[in-house]
Formats: sequence, structure tokens, C-alpha cells
Amino acid sequence: MFNLHKSLGLTVLALAVVRLAWRLYAGAPIPMASIPRWQLLLARVTHWLLYGLIIAMPLSGWLFDSASGLRPLRWFELFQVPKLIAPNTGVREIARDAHGWIFWVLVLLILMHAGAALYHHYFVGDGTLRRMLPGRRMPPPSSNRNS
Ligand code: HEM
Ligand code: HEM
Repeated sequence: MFNLHKSLGLTVLALAVVRLAWRLYAGAPIPMASIPRWQLLLARVTHWLLYGLIIAMPLSGWLFDSASGLRPLRWFELFQVPKLIAPNTGVREIARDAHGWIFWVLVLLILMHAGAALYHHYFVGDGTLRRMLPGRRMPPPSSNRNS
């Protein structure tokens, strides 16, 4: 089960890096015009925290695995994943604590984030959630690069 956990986690890491690179290249859709400034700011902070944490989450697990000096880590039994550092008790403890804490912060942010999407859909009634569906017209990426 731990190998599965680690393999899935490393897959999340790879996908998150690709997604972040695409986000930095292509930007994001322009927010709905009706959204107040403070909400835009809060959404922006939350989104960047989510990006940071979906990378920090598996990275801290990988660091913990590396610092523990455990058996070789094989990605879905296909190939061996390099260790990030040599065994180190201090780093091991910090990485383990971080892995636990980041998870709970992430859970909290995801609940806030999903709650905000449902708030927009059911209470405000704007298109924030609906426009996530495929096939919706978006402004060209270049018009909002790195926003
Ligand atoms: C999206 C990615 C990941 C999520 C959401 C996640 C989540 C978790 C959670 C919730 C725990 C239990 C924490 C606790 O008991 O305090 C855990 C433990 C653990 N994770 Fe992950 N994990 C991820 C990726 C990884 C990766 C990539 C590795 C290693 C390569 C890893 C290695 C471990 C190990 C070794 C433990 C046991 C920690 C202990 O003994 O206290 N995790 N993980
Ligand atoms: C029920 C679950 C979820 C719903 C309904 C939801 C909904 C949404 C919506 C509607 C947006 C677009 C906001 C806009 O147009 O400005 C968005 C963006 C985003 N979501 Fe979610 N989301 C969910 C889960 C998650 C999870 C689990 C994560 C990551 C752990 C996540 C990360 C993000 C990020 C990073 C953005 C910003 C994209 C960008 O502008 O680059 N979401 N989400």
C-alpha cells in the first residue's frame, strides 16, 4: 500500500508540475466582471496556495522517504526513483511533520475553494463554475498571461 501511495503521489507531483508550467505559459481566464475586488484577491491567493501545496505535498513525502533511508522506491514497480538526500534523522522528522501538516492545510483550502465555487453557482448565480465545462468560450490565453 505504501508503494502505491508513493507512486500515486509522485504521479500527482509530475502532473502538478506540468499543470503549473501550462498555467505560467497560458495564464488563466479573465474572472467574471461581477466579482468584488476582495474576492478576486482571496481567490488568487487561494489558487496559488493550492498550486504550491499540491507540489509541496508529494515533495515532502519524497523527502521523508529519502531521508528515512528506506528500501529503494520503485514507481509502480517499473523503475527506481532516485533518493533526494542521504539518510538524515533531522530532515526525516521535519519532512514527516510537514507531510502531515500540509495535508490538513490542503484539505481546509480545498473545502474553502469548493465551497466558494458552490457559493458562486447557487447563491450568486454567475458562470464561475459553469464555465469550467469543456466547450465554453474563453478569451485567448495571451490576453491574460500570468494573471
Ligand atoms: C498528493 C500526494 C500525497 C498525499 C495527499 C499524501 C498524503 C499522506 C497522508 C495524509 C499521510 C498520513 C500522514 C500522517 O499520518 O500524519 C501520508 C503518509 C505518508 N506518506 Fe504521503 N501523500 C502524498 C505523497 C507522498 C509521496 C510522493 C511519498 C513518498 C515518495 C509519500 C510518503 C509517505 C509516507 C512514507 C508516509 C508515512 C508517514 C509516517 O510514517 O508518519 N507520500 N501521506
Ligand atoms: C469540488 C471540487 C472543486 C470545484 C467545484 C472546483 C471549482 C473550481 C472553479 C470553478 C475554478 C475556476 C475559478 C475561476 O474561473 O476563476 C477553479 C480553479 C482552480 N482550482 Fe478548483 N475546484 C475543485 C477542486 C479543486 C482541487 C481539489 C484543487 C487542487 C488541490 C483545485 C485547484 C484549483 C486551482 C489551482 C484553480 C485555479 C486555476 C488557475 O486560475 O490557474 N480545485 N476550481
